[in-house]
Amino acid sequence: MSLLDAATAVRENAYAPYSGFRVGAALRGSDGRIYAGCNVENVAYPEGTCAEAGAIAAMVAAGVTRLQEVLVLAGGPAPVAPCGGCRQKLREFGGPDVVVTMRNTDGAQIRQTLAELLPGAFDAHQMGGKATAPDMAANDPMTKD
Ligand code: THU
Repeated sequence: MSLLDAATAVRENAYAPYSGFRVGAALRGSDGRIYAGCNVENVAYPEGTCAEAGAIAAMVAAGVTRLQEVLVLAGGPAPVAPCGGCRQKLREFGGPDVVVTMRNTDGAQIRQTLAELLPGAFDAHQMGGKATAPDMAANDPMTKD
């Protein structure tokens, strides 16, 4: 299955009664497997979660904490742009050269790296030195990429 197939399938399950904007996201983990998620809205609007967050949660739940590529799919006139928070969430697990394909259901797509999507990303070094927790060190973008 391709990232596009996975994002297309999971998008069908998006729970978006408030915005009506259904999103599917698919990630390829460092294990080569695909992890998918959809947006899940809530009547208390800020409690809703983006498709990317769901896909990341699925990957981490499977024990994988690095990702190789990302695809995000939605309707709308132009390829969907991940929100700022999701750019930071993706950068936690993906290096600066990871390619994000943003696509709409008409087939228009844009590809950009995480570095292009989130220049000047906040990282552990801005907290004043090396990360100490083992999981943080494992994901430290300055030592890992
Ligand atoms: N949304 C995503 O799931 N991912 C994106 O990249 C952009 C926005 C969702 C959040 C909300 O459920 C709906 O789209 C409208 O903002």
